[in-house]
Amino acid sequence: MLIGKPSAIPSSEITPLGAYRQFLSRRRFLRGAVAAGAVALAADRVAQVIEPDKVAFAETRLQTVSSPLTTTGEQLTSFADITHYNNFYEFGVDKGDPAKNAGGLPTRPWTVKVEGKVAKPLTFDIDDLLKLRPLEDRVYRHRCVEAWSMVIPWVGYSLSEFIKQCDPLPSAKYVQFLSYYDHHVEKWSGESTIYWPYSEGLRMDEALNPLTLLTFGLYGETLPNQDGAPVRIVIPWKYGFKSAKSVVTVRFVEKQPSTTWNDMAPDEYGFYSNVNPSVDHPRWSQKRERRIGLPFYAQWRETLMFNGYGDQVASMYQGMNLRKYY
Ligand code: MTE
Repeated sequence: MLIGKPSAIPSSEITPLGAYRQFLSRRRFLRGAVAAGAVALAADRVAQVIEPDKVAFAETRLQTVSSPLTTTGEQLTSFADITHYNNFYEFGVDKGDPAKNAGGLPTRPWTVKVEGKVAKPLTFDIDDLLKLRPLEDRVYRHRCVEAWSMVIPWVGYSLSEFIKQCDPLPSAKYVQFLSYYDHHVEKWSGESTIYWPYSEGLRMDEALNPLTLLTFGLYGETLPNQDGAPVRIVIPWKYGFKSAKSVVTVRFVEKQPSTTWNDMAPDEYGFYSNVNPSVDHPRWSQKRERRIGLPFYAQWRETLMFNGYGDQVASMYQGMNLRKYY
């Protein structure tokens, strides 16, 4: 996988969402004041770090309910880090690129096509999907294969609720997710050697596991474009690349589908890609991870098997050799 630069945002700049928003409106006000002098200079210095005007975040607050499946007790990663330290190779290869470049992703109108082994092919409008089930606040640990991690307050509902609406046939053993792809919009996609559209997949039982989240938002608001607007998948016990962003097609299939990273480098990125500290990536260790946004002395921690979600997911892999099926 392409390894990006370390976060450009020092931890001293980390703010929770509310403070970040206050900062934005304060900055807008300051920009209007011609004679803002030294104060404006100071604001601009901060702005160079988080570049709010280039952030493609949405403004829409979502109605949410709390969820019993939330992970508690860990400090949330700041909104600034979650939205400025991204992998979204359609919009560039550096961690800061998606925040700068994803503004043009056309998130309305947006439909999700359902095809393959289903009673009949369907198309869902994103606004109907948003209303299908109550939206839950779910805090999950987010572990990237590159050995960094975050704690993210996502908004969504279990993918299983959506799958019920799709009426898959008994022959549907896997689900494939395809991301939006238009090289006119995603001009930066040529910078990486990825095969497009971005494709990921799950075994049916993994897709039906209640933890697998059809995700529409974070920090209580619709997803910023760089985080996979308007809808993405989140699978908290797997490495982050399994979570396809900006999904336009859900395909039910009989055989294990081809997936982007597994196709490109099968020795490095397995189809399962469950977080597993005892199976190293060929080029680096997976035993530890760096929590983005924490002070330097507190960043490194042990990686947990299944990213700490073993109680909910380990039974799906009973009897499987997880070294072979990494
Ligand atoms: N989905 C698409 N369409 N394109 C991508 O490049 N990157 C993946 C995954 N989903 C990617 C994608 C990778 S490598 C990771 S680690 C996560 O998204 C990153 O999600 P985040 O930017 O919200 O942290």
